[in-house]
Amino acid sequence: MSLPDRPSPCRVVVLVSGHGSNLQSILDKAQTPACAFEVVGVISNEPTAHGLKRADHAGVANNIVHHLDFESRDAFDRALGAAIDRHQPDLVVLAGFMRILGTALVGAYTGRMMNIHPSLLPEYRGLNTHTRVLADSARCHGATVHFVVPALDAGPIILQGRVLVMPDDTPESLAERVRQVEHQIYPTAITWFAQKRLSLVGQCAYLDGLPITP
Ligand code: GAR
Repeated sequence: MSLPDRPSPCRVVVLVSGHGSNLQSILDKAQTPACAFEVVGVISNEPTAHGLKRADHAGVANNIVHHLDFESRDAFDRALGAAIDRHQPDLVVLAGFMRILGTALVGAYTGRMMNIHPSLLPEYRGLNTHTRVLADSARCHGATVHFVVPALDAGPIILQGRVLVMPDDTPESLAERVRQVEHQIYPTAITWFAQKRLSLVGQCAYLDGLPITP
């Protein structure tokens, strides 16, 4: 008796701008037995991003779409969209991708594009989250995986991970602890999507048919 075929893995494209530690956690997860997704491409807007080396090392196709090569945001978005489309992805994952995407590109991937942000959204949208958390003497901090919508860091929340802020924390020590949490929650959220357990319905993310309420 032959075993039923496993469904083909979910095709994931990862966008990076820098160090790529989240990309690494996703590549590592993709190597685990019976993982439901594969990373089919990595794209960076920064030619020197270390994430490109990580992709090379993992044998994953990678390329650069440098934002400075384009006269306008729209032209960059069109080139980036074409580069993404070439991989025919099921899911686009922003992992430390530091460019704001336009409505057309986001709209083309509604419900199929995720981001990770280093705060407990809706708190601390935007940049320098760790410094702002310390300045506010906040007790709790963390990271959020969310579906991408045109408004910055505002999409429906999928999963959050928390860390306590310590009295002697610096922005760097806090960033490091938040990153450890990110490396847990991002591969988990991608796995849920790949297993078809996660979806976006209207303005809400659903897991196993139930709305996610952070
Ligand atoms: C991560 O902490 C991620 O949450 C953040 O950039 C870092 C990238 O680290 N993303 C944003 O700030 C997006 N608004 P990595 O390159 O080592 O994965």
